[in-house]
Amino acid sequence: MTHVVTLPGDGIGPEIMVPAVQLLQHFVPDVTVEEHVFGGASIDAHGTALTDDTLAACRQADAVLLAAVGGPKWDTTNPDDPRPEQGLLGLRKALGLFANLRPVRPLPALYDSSPLKRERIEGTDLLVVRELTGGIYFGDKTRTDTDASDLCHYTVDEVDRIARVAFEAARRRRGSVASVDKANVMETSRQWRQVVHAVHAADYADVLLTDVLVDNAAMQLVSRPADFDVIVTENLFGDILSDEAAMITGSIGMLPSASLGNGAGPGLFEPVHGSAPDIAGTGAANPLAMFLSLAMLLRHGLSLDAEALALEAAVDRALDDGLRTRDLGGNAGTEEATAAVLAHL
Ligand code: NAD
Ligand code: IPM
Ligand code: MN
Repeated sequence: MTHVVTLPGDGIGPEIMVPAVQLLQHFVPDVTVEEHVFGGASIDAHGTALTDDTLAACRQADAVLLAAVGGPKWDTTNPDDPRPEQGLLGLRKALGLFANLRPVRPLPALYDSSPLKRERIEGTDLLVVRELTGGIYFGDKTRTDTDASDLCHYTVDEVDRIARVAFEAARRRRGSVASVDKANVMETSRQWRQVVHAVHAADYADVLLTDVLVDNAAMQLVSRPADFDVIVTENLFGDILSDEAAMITGSIGMLPSASLGNGAGPGLFEPVHGSAPDIAGTGAANPLAMFLSLAMLLRHGLSLDAEALALEAAVDRALDDGLRTRDLGGNAGTEEATAAVLAHL
């Protein structure tokens, strides 16, 4: 029996979770699905973005499927107010999900949907390996009337384990890793670079390793994206670079992700995009990043490789067949996109 916890969250989250659960039940007929409020919806119901109950349920699951959290209703500059994003960060940390995999593979059908020229993006197939439970996201924070600070902190072990994830991925791919840092300025980056090179020399000398400064990486991602294989980087850089890289695929509505730990507990699978408050409730949300995140759940969370491939192929064929949601320049809404993918299964 397979048990999946779903966290629809806020904004377009519930709209894209409904068809994702439909697809999950298609591929795993005996699945039990347990839904929990999360993020802003949980703040409204319980006063906190992640309740102990929800966390306990996630720990018991074989995998967790999340849509998105956040929205203007809960936006606040007051550090004492609860925020939806605290639920997401708390869940990642509590489940030990230090490795966030964000594959960027533009489909030929969407080459002309990207704002980048076709000849630049053709052949791009890269993987962002984003460190997810350290860095400036989780360092001490201070705030007074006159100043504020966020500490960027990494341990050697945190860098070592994410470097290994990247090198292992590169071995299964095209054998090259670009480690992105800001070693010309930041102490955490200088240690990051030293640790990545030590891991490389000790255990992964067969992989090609290059260092790229993050500002240069942001530029190279749009000028020669096809040259990247695996990009490994710290939490904040990975957040920013992956949204940038999403546009190679045509839309942030296309990019899936998997957040994995050491394998002892469940993984968390979620699209890279947010709750898109500007289109929530209009039926226009592109559900494909959510569907592709479900494919990652099938593959990495449930070891259902054939099912994952079948879902990815159905998405590809629907796009080949002309499916375009509004973010991709078309008119299809969430329902039409879902129907198109179902029709190609
Ligand atoms: P966003 O990703 O929600 O939206 C950015 C733009 O992309 C918007 O114009 C939106 O309409 C569009 N977009 C995003 N996903 C789309 C989809 N599936 N289909 C069509 N268009 C889509 O980013 P934002 O506006 O900066 O953030 C909104 C809220 O989401 C914030 O509260 C933020 O904290 C939160 N957020 C949550 C997650 C998450 O839950 N994993 C990720 C990112 C942002
Ligand atoms: C993401 C999001 C989150 C992050 C926010 C909502 C906390 O932007 O998953 O990319 O910054 O990690
Ligand atoms: Mn982000």
